Amino acid sequence: KNIVILISGRGSNMQALVEANIPDARIAAVLSNNPQAAGLAWAAERGIATAALNHRDFPDRAAFDRAMADKIDAHAPDLVVLAGFMRILTPEFCRHYENRLINIHPSLLPAFTGLHTHQRALDEGCRIAGCTVHFATAELDNGPIIAQAAVPVLDGDDADTLAARVLAAEHQIFPQAVADFVSGSLKIVGKRVINARRRQ
Ligand code: GRF
Repeated sequence: KNIVILISGRGSNMQALVEANIPDARIAAVLSNNPQAAGLAWAAERGIATAALNHRDFPDRAAFDRAMADKIDAHAPDLVVLAGFMRILTPEFCRHYENRLINIHPSLLPAFTGLHTHQRALDEGCRIAGCTVHFATAELDNGPIIAQAAVPVLDGDDADTLAARVLAAEHQIFPQAVADFVSGSLKIVGKRVINARRRQ
């Protein structure tokens, strides 16, 4: 299965995915909206095709998304993964990749969609935080949930310490969710995802 990974920055989830060496998964390319994304250099060093399309060079979101989709489709992907891709995608883009677009989000959805999830969890006094891997749909951070992991919120936490704890959990569930997709274990039924691996 061909996988195209989209990143915007550091790319630690992308690294976790590459290093998982998932059987039958080929990382076809790592693409970014940010030419400075540190993850691009990391991937290029490992011989993975990389490219950046700066969203600032496009007149609007739709034009950027169309250009990004062209770049992606040149790699004939079976799966597109958003690994810390910090741009909102148009409904057209999401529909084009329906059921083959996966996102990692640093909260226990449906709580805390959008940005600043860790500070918001702290502000709400949450005792548990976490992360979610889900199929991305036209509605932001609201698609069928593939996997979630919870971590405790500790009394001394600030947004950075909580983010670090959640990120470690992201690095566990994200490659596993992609492996489950690649092995054909995931079936979407309405808003639920049935995972054949978990049922065994
Ligand atoms: C992750 O926490 C991801 O869930 C969020 O942005 C962060 C990206 O980190 N949306 P990285 O680029 O994968 O290191």
